[in-house]
Amino acid sequence: MSYTLTDFCDDTRAILQKHDDHAGHEQIRQKLETLLGNPAFCAEYVGPDNNTGMSQIFEDPKLHFCVLAYNMADARKSPPHDHGSSWAVYGQTTVYTDMTIWAATGKDEGTIEPVRTFRLDPGNAGLFDVREIHSIDYAAGSKFVRVTGVDMSMETRRVFDPETATVRTIEQAGTSDTREPRAKSS
Ligand SMILES: [Fe+2]
Repeated sequence: MSYTLTDFCDDTRAILQKHDDHAGHEQIRQKLETLLGNPAFCAEYVGPDNNTGMSQIFEDPKLHFCVLAYNMADARKSPPHDHGSSWAVYGQTTVYTDMTIWAATGKDEGTIEPVRTFRLDPGNAGLFDVREIHSIDYAAGSKFVRVTGVDMSMETRRVFDPETATVRTIEQAGTSDTREPRAKSS
């Protein structure tokens, strides 16, 4: 029997109720890869007939983790960013996304450097844990699923500019790795 979105959300809920920590988030990453192996799920949410753009396909009414589907026509590189107090798992279904992990060098908050890059091919999921700085670079036609620990439209997060070694705090910027962040003047 296929592993469905409902199965995934039930498992994620159960995992978070026991282990809302790195080990639990890693279990969720593995469960997402199982979900990506269900062709019916992919066809329904990240298939050739889906409209371009981002759509939220589930929000847990109690724990508030969210599942979002991305059907992207154009290639895009995001700036390095974190998700505030939320973890995130990205799961690729079509084309690829290159992920880069960044780390502060210790000089100041805005000075960061890349420490690891890896590619998510279809079927692969990657975990970015709480406050882990990352950037994404996806090709045209990419389709992927993102799971976040909270509704990101309500979460304060940081966006970095490595060129100028500056960091901006973004408040309630919307569920967006796919739009330009709206900066709070600061
Ligand atoms: Fe992200």
